[in-house]
Amino acid sequence: MEKQSLLYEGKAKRLYETEDENLLVAEFKDDLTAGNAAKKGSEEGKGALNCKISTQLFALLEKGGIKTHLVKTLDDNNQLIKAVKIIPIEVVVRNIATGSLTKRLGIKDGTELPFTLVEFYYKDDSLNDPIINDQHCIMMDLVKSESDLEELKRLGREINVIMKRFFAERRLSLVDFKVEFGVDAEGNILLSDEISPDSCRFWDMDTNEKLDKDIFRQDLGNVKVAYEEVLRRILK
Ligand code: TMP
Repeated sequence: MEKQSLLYEGKAKRLYETEDENLLVAEFKDDLTAGNAAKKGSEEGKGALNCKISTQLFALLEKGGIKTHLVKTLDDNNQLIKAVKIIPIEVVVRNIATGSLTKRLGIKDGTELPFTLVEFYYKDDSLNDPIINDQHCIMMDLVKSESDLEELKRLGREINVIMKRFFAERRLSLVDFKVEFGVDAEGNILLSDEISPDSCRFWDMDTNEKLDKDIFRQDLGNVKVAYEEVLRRILK
């Protein structure tokens, strides 16, 4: 399937049309941004690593009964995906308090949460992706109905159960992650975008070392080495 015209360019990916209107090509870029592009960088090979990691995780989730947009991987940086209408809600699932949650609520960094926390953020760079509640989602017509919101929460929790177990077997703690969903031509809600160390936090269970984009956000070292380690453990 050949790439045709560029449909959209985001911070980490480009989307291309194909000869089939129901299929797109997602190209993973080497660019890294943090704080809504306030901090920018690039790391050669990062896109290929995320493409491989995301492909593995989407396959794992499909096996666990989660429908995704992934059709197949084309090469190092490119995936063939189903065309969906992205729901403009970032679904963040948290097991351990860190990042914006600790800043917003003053919870001590590293605190194990008493239950899995699911949050919604409005996907809008110009507003810095603000946190929103169910009523905001309905008021702004971000979803069709409250049952869609319940489905997003259920899917977020289910993805968490599958991934948390998978990574624990590899001595990685899944601290939190962000997922996005889209609606296909038949109205199915599909897991979309990507799942990678750009969109998850992974802490080594034995050393507490961070193996995710916080390395870039906090200038802790080389992201590629960490992402390679995540891929190595996924392939174990
Ligand atoms: P946060 O602590 O900064 O709110 O991030 C929570 C999780 O969501 C973390 O794993 C990083 C991920 N995330 C993204 O992938 N994209 C984003 O735009 C934001 C804000 C968070």
